[in-house]
Amino acid sequence: MLLDQMCYDIVTQNVTMMSIKSLPKKTKLFIQLFYLGKRLHVVNVKNTLGCKILDNLLKLNLLIADGNNINSNYKITPFNNFYFLSGGSIFENSAYIGSDSFYLAKHLPFNFNATKVLDLCSGTGIQAILLARSAKKIIGVELSREVANIARFNVVLNNVENKVKILQGDLYEVVKNKKFDLVVSNPPFVPVPDTLPYVLWGKGGEDGLLIQKKIFTNINDYMTKNGIGLTVGMSLGDRRSPFILDLLNKTAKKEKLDIDILVYNRNHKWEQILRRSWDVLATFPNQKRNPFEEFDRIYNQADAEYTYCYLVRLRRGKGKVALINLFDKENSRKETEISEKTSLESLHSSFVNCFINRQYNKAISIYKNMERFSKVFGLKYRRDVFFILGVSYERLRRYKKAIIELRKAEMINPEEAQINFSLFKCYRNICQIEQADRELKKGVLKFKKYKQTVTKNYSPFFYGKRL
Ligand SMILES: C[S@@+](CC[C@H](N)C(=O)[O-])C[C@H]1O[C@@H](n2cnc3c(N)ncnc32)[C@H](O)[C@@H]1O
Repeated sequence: MLLDQMCYDIVTQNVTMMSIKSLPKKTKLFIQLFYLGKRLHVVNVKNTLGCKILDNLLKLNLLIADGNNINSNYKITPFNNFYFLSGGSIFENSAYIGSDSFYLAKHLPFNFNATKVLDLCSGTGIQAILLARSAKKIIGVELSREVANIARFNVVLNNVENKVKILQGDLYEVVKNKKFDLVVSNPPFVPVPDTLPYVLWGKGGEDGLLIQKKIFTNINDYMTKNGIGLTVGMSLGDRRSPFILDLLNKTAKKEKLDIDILVYNRNHKWEQILRRSWDVLATFPNQKRNPFEEFDRIYNQADAEYTYCYLVRLRRGKGKVALINLFDKENSRKETEISEKTSLESLHSSFVNCFINRQYNKAISIYKNMERFSKVFGLKYRRDVFFILGVSYERLRRYKKAIIELRKAEMINPEEAQINFSLFKCYRNICQIEQADRELKKGVLKFKKYKQTVTKNYSPFFYGKRL
């Protein structure tokens, strides 16, 4: 809980900042630009990389110049000694990498003797590239041209050109009449209202199953006799199970497939509705329709209360479906904890995160819509940016910048700004000493057994000193 309040990303970023201090200059600079998303002064970058490398990276659009600063729209994520470039200059069409990518990657069957592999919806190419460890030939299929090029870049970056080929196309269309021993996929599976725009990597239709359906119902034609399919996905569901079970039961019978479904997570609808609405507003501001109402509608229409995350494994067989539910109630958060109010708070913390990450435009677009959001919930929302408890000095320092930005965007008038500046000073003092102490005490009481670690490791953080 303490970490939740402080935001993990700040902790990891601070830890990373500390741990990279002693690295060679060039490595440190690459981590700052391509992992931590920092903006660096052009002189610093030029001195460290040299003009030629900087020019090349600028020409390739891997770095962008913004006044005297240099930053990147891309990120490089290390995973199991491989490196994956993600992101891109067109956000709606960017190369995605995230927890589901890593979940599937961790479950890839490297010991399965696969000669030919198909990776549908390959994105950064992570699955295809990792599978080069064990398979002979891998084809990755990606719909977006930009993303396919990023995957090709990653293929070269990881030295697997002799095994992995990336094709641009729509699912099976570009591999017609070919058979594979293994078909893996992490398709777009976010349930998104048809009335809203959404990023390509997530858009899975109103029930989230649009692409998954196409993958499962046609897979039989593309698998060798002993071939297997492995997909990570998401579906709406009720209290008991995900709705995808219906589709899997039908497909199993019709195609004579044995299917195992491993449910590994479940989220309450409000968590999804808030997170996804926020995604929409951050990427496509000025929506005519209210994203909250639209997302709420698709859950209501389907009579769904949850979204489920799962892995689906299938092979030829007798048409049986086995459900393995790793998710159990005791391990999950108590239902009562998830109310509209806590969800609104979680939205607020996303908003605050934007400030922390200096994404002021995104934050402002959320802020502008906050009143609209609160109407959906029937809650009155406080129009100030100092809501969060236990804020560190570092965060407040950035709030100051945020206030200036808000003022520039005419979100708050000068008097309001003045009041907020005074509040800022006041909070800073309080947070540094009293509030921080109180929060820490609360945390220590709750987690007595971690008392020593908490006070020893985390208390300096509350006081805004280094970790
Ligand atoms: C959730 S991302 C997964 C990327 C990657 N496989 C991973 O595990 O990180 C889904 C990817 O599918 C691509 N995509 C969407 N529709 C597609 C389609 N019809 N055919 C092929 N790729 C598609 C998107 O552009 C996106 O890169």
